[in-house]
Amino acid sequence: MIDIKLSIPAANWKANLTFEQAVNWINYMETNVSRIIIDYQEYIKLIAGVPYVYIKPLKDISKRVKIYAQNMSHVLKGAYTGEITIIMLKSIGCDGVILGHSERRNIFNETDELINKKVLLCQEHNMPFILCVGENLEQRRKGIAFEVIKNQIDLALKGFNKFELMVLAYEPVWAIGTGVPMEISDIKEAASFIIDYLRKNYKEVPVLYGGSVEENTAYFATFKTGLSGVLVGSKSLDPIEFERIVTLTFSGVNNLQFDKEHFET
Ligand code: PGA
Repeated sequence: MIDIKLSIPAANWKANLTFEQAVNWINYMETNVSRIIIDYQEYIKLIAGVPYVYIKPLKDISKRVKIYAQNMSHVLKGAYTGEITIIMLKSIGCDGVILGHSERRNIFNETDELINKKVLLCQEHNMPFILCVGENLEQRRKGIAFEVIKNQIDLALKGFNKFELMVLAYEPVWAIGTGVPMEISDIKEAASFIIDYLRKNYKEVPVLYGGSVEENTAYFATFKTGLSGVLVGSKSLDPIEFERIVTLTFSGVNNLQFDKEHFET
């Protein structure tokens, strides 16, 4: 028996797609998928991080795709106009949530302490989550990338111990949205550092790479690196492109030699 590993291709739509496009995306992923996705579906955790207002209707039509929120409030309930809480997300069957994305940190000033509150809410309410960490360009140039990552992990995970809920996404800020992913050799180095750090100080959890992921990166970033998948922004918006990324991620994680056959539907 070969040992097949779980692969996690995750889409992060951010503030994109109309509702009609979102429905088409899910329908595409439910029907037009490669043989590999059908045959190994129990080993592929296909996630879509979608806008809040689409969560419930997309949940209603998707079987294969796990529907995640892209954020949630750090408070549980009360007089916080405009906030979306974990209770609300749970009550509509949301499958999980992305936390600490660099756009939340940088544009909306989310601090490590705030992210920690959200992590603890997920723990309390059994909500799966993807925790995003990653250094910016200045920190990388200064040679303190791994220090920054360690720090972000430690602060986010204070008081946390339900590791079965957690996936970690390493997303170097300087590679997000630029169209230029990190070099594969650098991804390998960062992956082995993070995987090792989590194993020694916390628990082994799936680790993803994110930052301008396209088809090649999905395959080579996961091929013999110990990474479990990818978090994909702009290249996740087109379902045809993302479906190929799903197949390639599975192939990479499972160290399969890639060939054309994997693209067959
Ligand atoms: P990108 O976004 O693939 O467009 O770089 C990734 C992310 O922000 O998760």
